[in-house]
Amino acid sequence: VRRIRTHHLQQAKEHGEKFAMLTAYEQYSAEIFDEAGIEVLLIGDSAANNVYGYETTIPITMDEMLPLCRAVSRAAQRALVVADLPFGSYEASPEQAVAAGVRLLKEGLVAAVKMEGGKRFAGHVRAMVDAGIPVMAHIGFTPQSEHALGGYRVQGRGDAGQQVIDDAVALAEAGAFSVLMEMVPAEVATAVDAAIKVPTIGIGAGNGTTGQVLVWQDMAGLRGGKAAKFVKQYAQLRETLGEAAKSYAAEVRSGAFPGQQHSF
Ligand code: KIV
Ligand code: NA
Repeated sequence: VRRIRTHHLQQAKEHGEKFAMLTAYEQYSAEIFDEAGIEVLLIGDSAANNVYGYETTIPITMDEMLPLCRAVSRAAQRALVVADLPFGSYEASPEQAVAAGVRLLKEGLVAAVKMEGGKRFAGHVRAMVDAGIPVMAHIGFTPQSEHALGGYRVQGRGDAGQQVIDDAVALAEAGAFSVLMEMVPAEVATAVDAAIKVPTIGIGAGNGTTGQVLVWQDMAGLRGGKAAKFVKQYAQLRETLGEAAKSYAAEVRSGAFPGQQHSF
């Protein structure tokens, strides 16, 4: 199988093709999505919520990210594997960002990193790219800044739309190989895709981006509770898994499992 590289995503945009990205945090989901043809796998810092049980992405550390990165990188044969720079690992300086990016590639075995932040982080992107680290920029709603942004809310409405476009242009000029936008109006995301040469990726950003991304447990209906407006559930794994566990427990209690065929 041919490995997907950043230039293949660029080609997709140039050919008017779209691509799909999902999060993955361990072996089986990574294998399944890789075999299903998902082009990009992201070890998101959303592992904070979806693996470690934190309420936000803020507490997750580099040391908590790295084992998940290694698991996904070993499992994926074809997908481009990208990992998030966790909060606190990169903001202070371009040098700190390079050091964090190097750890994700060297110890996490990933092929690229994603970094939250607008044009004030263009220098960070440039330094990482110069060091040989491919960077996906993440703008619009940036969950690591939840407290600064005043909660989960759409970014770039009205006059603020130009800010999102300016951020994307600056980050692409700094060398980002793609720009991800979270929770921005569809027309703003479409304008960003037209304003930059590199591919765009959307989550809650409408249908005008080059690619789309979702958290896999949201996409597969594994996570409980009410899904965000931008999520579509393509399966109901929480129900399926819960039913399997109940059937197993019932058969253990009744003595139906293990049967003769499971015994030596
Ligand atoms: O951490 C994450 O899951 C993300 C999203 C954009 C999917 O950053
Ligand atoms: Na993230």
